[in-house]
Amino acid sequence: MDNNSLIEKAIEARKNAYAPYSQHRVGAVVVTDKGQLFTGCNIENCAFLGECAERVAIYKALSEGAKKIVKLVVVTANKDLSAPCGICRQVIREFNSKMEIVIANTEKKFKVLTLEELLPYSFGPESLRHGQGA
Ligand code: THU
Repeated sequence: MDNNSLIEKAIEARKNAYAPYSQHRVGAVVVTDKGQLFTGCNIENCAFLGECAERVAIYKALSEGAKKIVKLVVVTANKDLSAPCGICRQVIREFNSKMEIVIANTEKKFKVLTLEELLPYSFGPESLRHGQGA
């Protein structure tokens, strides 16, 4: 599926965002190495322990058995586009340090980024394995 269609899918997912506290609605879609798609939206709560759209989509994919996610598309209404938060970047890093990340807005303006650009000198699973006695 091309970026335009994936952005449309993320825009649809964004409609399910539950963001009564921030009013910042986010939609996401991930593509697995097998071509499956999983969507997500941000889900807030009154204790301010909400989840980002990216992580909802990633966790949906993983909990359905996906092993590798090759692409993440995230949509906000932000004219200047908005990149994944720090926690999401680390979660992305865990599951594919080469993941392609498309940040887009509801006008379908978009930019393609790599995780390396978002999280340089990252800490990943293999970093632990180099430890003493690991
Ligand atoms: N949010 C996301 O869904 N993705 C991000 O990468 C940044 C922030 C959500 C979390 C919260 O519901 C709202 O946006 C404001 O931070």
